[in-house]
Amino acid sequence: MKYTLDYEKYAELARRVAAEGSVLLRNEDGVLPLQKGQKVSIFGRTQFEHYKSGTGSGGMVNAPYVTNITDSLKEDGTVQVNEVLEAQYREWLKDHPFDIGEGWAMEPWNQEEMPVSEELTRQAAEQSDLAIVVLGRTAGEDKDNSAAEGSYLLTAAEEEILRNVCNAFARTIVVLNVGNIMDMKWVDRYQPQAVLYVWQGGQEGGRATVDVLTGKVNPGGKLSDTIAEDIEDYPSTENFGDPVENFYTEDIYVGYRYFETFARDKVKYPFGFGLSYTRFQTESMGLAVQGTEATVIEKVTNVGGMSGRETIQVYVEAPQGKLGKPLRQLAAYAKTEELKPGASEELILKAELTELASYDDSGVTGHKSCYVLEAGDYIFYVGTDVRSAREVGRVTLAELQVVRTATEALAPVQAFKRLRPFFFGENDHAIANWEDVPLRTIDLAERILRERPTQSEYVGDQGWKLADVYDKKITPEQFLTQLSDEDLICMTRGEGMCSPKVTPGTAAAFGGVTDGLQQFGIPVACCSDGPSGIRMDCGTMAYALPNGTLLACTFDPELVEELYEMEGMELRKNKIDSLLGPGINIHRNPLNGRNFEYFSEDPYLTGTMAAAQLKGMGKYGVTGTIKHFACNNQEFKRHDANAIVSERALREIYLKGFEIAVKQGGAYSIMSTYGPVNGLWTAGSYDLLTTILRKEWGYQGIVMTDWWAKINEEGEPGSGKQTIPMVRAQNDIYMVTADAASNSNKDNTAEGLADGRLTRAQLMRNAANICCFLLRSVAMERLLGREEEECTELHSPISTEGAGDSGQVLARMELPEPKTGEEIELPLEKLITKKGTGAVYQLRFPKVGRYELVFRMSSTLGPLAQLPISVFLNNTLQQTVTINGTEGKIVEQTVILAIRQDGEKYMKLYFGESGIDMSRMFLRYVGKNDIESFRNE
Ligand code: BGC
Repeated sequence: MKYTLDYEKYAELARRVAAEGSVLLRNEDGVLPLQKGQKVSIFGRTQFEHYKSGTGSGGMVNAPYVTNITDSLKEDGTVQVNEVLEAQYREWLKDHPFDIGEGWAMEPWNQEEMPVSEELTRQAAEQSDLAIVVLGRTAGEDKDNSAAEGSYLLTAAEEEILRNVCNAFARTIVVLNVGNIMDMKWVDRYQPQAVLYVWQGGQEGGRATVDVLTGKVNPGGKLSDTIAEDIEDYPSTENFGDPVENFYTEDIYVGYRYFETFARDKVKYPFGFGLSYTRFQTESMGLAVQGTEATVIEKVTNVGGMSGRETIQVYVEAPQGKLGKPLRQLAAYAKTEELKPGASEELILKAELTELASYDDSGVTGHKSCYVLEAGDYIFYVGTDVRSAREVGRVTLAELQVVRTATEALAPVQAFKRLRPFFFGENDHAIANWEDVPLRTIDLAERILRERPTQSEYVGDQGWKLADVYDKKITPEQFLTQLSDEDLICMTRGEGMCSPKVTPGTAAAFGGVTDGLQQFGIPVACCSDGPSGIRMDCGTMAYALPNGTLLACTFDPELVEELYEMEGMELRKNKIDSLLGPGINIHRNPLNGRNFEYFSEDPYLTGTMAAAQLKGMGKYGVTGTIKHFACNNQEFKRHDANAIVSERALREIYLKGFEIAVKQGGAYSIMSTYGPVNGLWTAGSYDLLTTILRKEWGYQGIVMTDWWAKINEEGEPGSGKQTIPMVRAQNDIYMVTADAASNSNKDNTAEGLADGRLTRAQLMRNAANICCFLLRSVAMERLLGREEEECTELHSPISTEGAGDSGQVLARMELPEPKTGEEIELPLEKLITKKGTGAVYQLRFPKVGRYELVFRMSSTLGPLAQLPISVFLNNTLQQTVTINGTEGKIVEQTVILAIRQDGEKYMKLYFGESGIDMSRMFLRYVGKNDIESFRNE
């Protein structure tokens, strides 16, 4: 495949997306956009330290740069930045550097702010026309938000900034550089003129914000979540964060489905809401219904003074029937092109009622385990947010329609009550009523046994290679008859992280991970985090893209698809077959730390956004692994907290986005989640991964576990070694083990096969799933030498800045069991010390402790030349040592490496300037003392 990866175009596109996903919630007196020549004072340190993403695996992209708001405003030049204030901030920041915390999940939610006194704001107000206050937040994997100051709420320092700034300035604009929504009560307290959510916009986030502030891009973003008055107003808050059991008592009433049905007055900003710098008039041109499909035509006219885009949303109110329904469900959305003042466009939106069919998990309609449309009126509402949407027509179904017959699956086993609406007379909203959740009635063990696959032939090596399946000479099943049980078992093991078999620094290798498997011509595929750019832990740089929430707020799947085409090229260039993303869990509660990676509280918006990403990446032969299947809705105790959910809520809300991604987006790689759902850890949940995913949805791809996941037999505790239920459930790959061949994870698959708890047929079936993935992969084409790869890279910022060069692996070494003081030589033959190059040594450390890395080197340059070398261990900078030119004399420099865990590490050297002649490099073991005082490797 020939393709051109033009990084300038990539950056422009990412910037456009980030701007289009910004949501303007308030704009009194047209304070925005900023006008040419205005003088602006900017408050809040985040103006300099833009959050490109949240934290954890989804935030670890080594971006070549991250733009910030102040520098971008100055680069833009429309307004004049108050440089006196700017200088004060920069001075203060010198003594208050950004606190990254002490390792994984330790980065604080917010950063200390410079105190902003009344005096300071008064002075600033004298020198400028308006103020911008930038507030920042982060959260992420293993770190939920908290309903406390500094996270969901403002800190005292931030309150002070807002109070003093809003008092001193006639015009204040608040910009929120945050992962997802936060408490907004302060808007009433301080009444700033404008409020703009810019989310976490990736590396172009600063520039994109400025595009919106200055009106180069008219913000067209719409909220992908409801912002309620108070965190307590979300019905899930009560149960959120329980370390053991999390009851989903609100059932299908998530987000606006809850608020529009039960608590309209608790909404501060409704789902789908967002302002524009222009005004639009919308006019219904009619509703046509054919069967269960409604076509809505809406004319949108720009009646304001600026070009812009508007989003039209179609909601359906289904009859309450016997099941009870939310008063609104998003059924379709569409966005206009950029409309000039006076211009109009007719949008045609199709809403398919069957997509909104309710799942009867109790049998109350007489159709248990069916998707039904109950008899009655289906009312269509059209508008620019859920609250303002107006009725455009209705369809009456004379009798109930069964849309799809399914099978009871994944039902809870613990009794609890769920919410359902109850209407008094003509009341337009319901009061809460509670009903018993239907519990499981099927015999799961019997189902698994009955549906056990049977094909299990073993014929030994017939000389067939996977290429013969690729060339359609034999079927995958025939091919697999050659693999021994041991080979089949090895295929269930993914290797990582940072496997040497694939692109350095990535999350995992899978497929042909052993010599045995490779002899059958099975390639090794590679996956890496995700979702907002590629994570490569050896320091390789990649583009950092806007976060998931922001993408959803664009309400523009075509644009998202275009951006992910670029991501697809970047993946392909890096020889990565699948990005571990998009994350498509539902924003059940605003406090979930990983909401930034996910899209929305609405499953239709979520599913269509995921499908768009997959289609985009798919154009370049690579894909995304949709995750985390399902209910990864809190980070606290995510390995163990049991999500207890009704089958209806699962199917209508929590699985729905996945279903759309599979059916419309052609997903063929899925990651199961960490925690259990209804008592079964998802990686071993037969009903989730076989009954629903494969049998019902027709899914044909692979399922992998989340990294170091647990699995259980029903009623037993979860364990990473308990892989028997995993194999049975068709979770094809366990992620991750250090070494598949030696079963370094000590899984019990072989044991299960030996004692009959597993069959060879089950392993063959899973291996067939994996082979089907591999047959579609670029890894396969590459192995066959049939990939005519030609990637032209244009305008790459990637190999010239920072530690960007991924570096070649120069040597792979098993270090000998070291003795104190002994020197272990590192080979220099292939070392190139040119500016901007990286050199990677893949080292297996047999022992924890301190090691000295000693450089003996010289340079013919003069004494003012500065020649830095950075040393990274698994992408974490250990130290940068700089020598000056030595005019030929050999000098020595030492870097201490604290190895806290034995095993394989990537040690990368990065040369920031040319001119070093390396004459010797060695490691010296200095013992175990004092390693705690050194940074983690
Ligand atoms: C996360 C996944 C991620 C994986 C690999 C896990 O901790 O939950 O989302 O893809 O690690 O980094």
